[in-house]
Amino acid sequence: MKNLVPEHIKNSKLYPPGWPIEEVKRKYGIEKIVKLNSNENCLGPSPMAVKAVAGAAADINLYPDNSAYYLKNRLAEQHGVSPEHIILGNGSNELVQFIIMTFLQPGEEILTAKPTFLLYGIMGRVMGGRVEEIPLKDYSFDLERMAEKISSKTKIIFISNPNNPTGTIVDRDLLEMFIESIPEDVILVLDEAYSEYVTSSNYPDSMESARHGRNIIILKTFSKAFGLAGVRIGYAAAPPDLVSYMERIREPFNASVIAQRAALAALDDKGHLQRTIKNNCDGIDYMYAQLQRMNLFHVPTQANFIFIRLGPKAETICEDLMKEGVLVRSLSDFDMPDYIRVTIGLPEENRRFVEILDKTIAGL
Ligand SMILES: Cc1ncc(COP(=O)(O)O)c(C=O)c1O
Repeated sequence: MKNLVPEHIKNSKLYPPGWPIEEVKRKYGIEKIVKLNSNENCLGPSPMAVKAVAGAAADINLYPDNSAYYLKNRLAEQHGVSPEHIILGNGSNELVQFIIMTFLQPGEEILTAKPTFLLYGIMGRVMGGRVEEIPLKDYSFDLERMAEKISSKTKIIFISNPNNPTGTIVDRDLLEMFIESIPEDVILVLDEAYSEYVTSSNYPDSMESARHGRNIIILKTFSKAFGLAGVRIGYAAAPPDLVSYMERIREPFNASVIAQRAALAALDDKGHLQRTIKNNCDGIDYMYAQLQRMNLFHVPTQANFIFIRLGPKAETICEDLMKEGVLVRSLSDFDMPDYIRVTIGLPEENRRFVEILDKTIAGL
């Protein structure tokens, strides 16, 4: 008898999303929720994007523009590349899938870090690949060790920059050296989902490499600083030959009418982006001060979340916070059960988190 389900599917894991608001309301009967578990934009979507979505509603009987002419041109202009360098995804998650489906062949391997964004490993395994995970060093990607680990089987390297869940970046010089050490038949994916929040002057200009034809794919998303997580739209920038092969995997019309219009409007709303970044910087300062007061170890962040050590009771503390309506991310799924990841919220949300955390820790 045939094996109904391939072994690599049987052995693969589900992606564990942060708890949705509705589920917590149902489970605990709480009305007011502070959602700091999925790194969404706490300011909400850009009002201009909301207006564009309302306008697009009248056109949802029509298929979207499969070539996404306006959005691709706009993104190309912004990044100094041609529209042929850009491919859109139903969120950047879908692009992770496209990359692996397009380029990974049987017996080839994916190289990444641990802990990092879980999807690289999950998708790699679900598609039958072997995934090599190099432990972080000082909470950052250990590029030296990763370079040593590149073998003739290595095909795709995923770097989350900034890294989810630690918030650290790979800086320009180290990345440049790493790129020099990568063989030409290996594809480097730089996932820059949180790049808009970065304040460090050492952050690499990765587009420069894509412009110069290196086998580098840069992932960007509208889900974080642009506030469109619910719409599902992201993109990759890469040399046009790589994009042309990924286009063969892409389902037609994967970027909806609503997603394309919302993204264009969000790009136009510079004020909303600036307010988002300012709120994040202020929130980070507040959190650092409070975490220092509470004597809790945390890693300086370049993203819109912060990685905090709570010790062996971290999971219980997460549960207790949830019962009070404060959702944060336990990092047990990342095999770091002593840590949590907390999205920077609005000032009152950050204060609420600190207040409940103080109370919870005092009651332990
Ligand atoms: C590093 C990283 N990449 C990609 C994503 C997913 O983004 P999208 O909503 O565009 O699929 C996330 C979301 O949490 C992330 O943390």
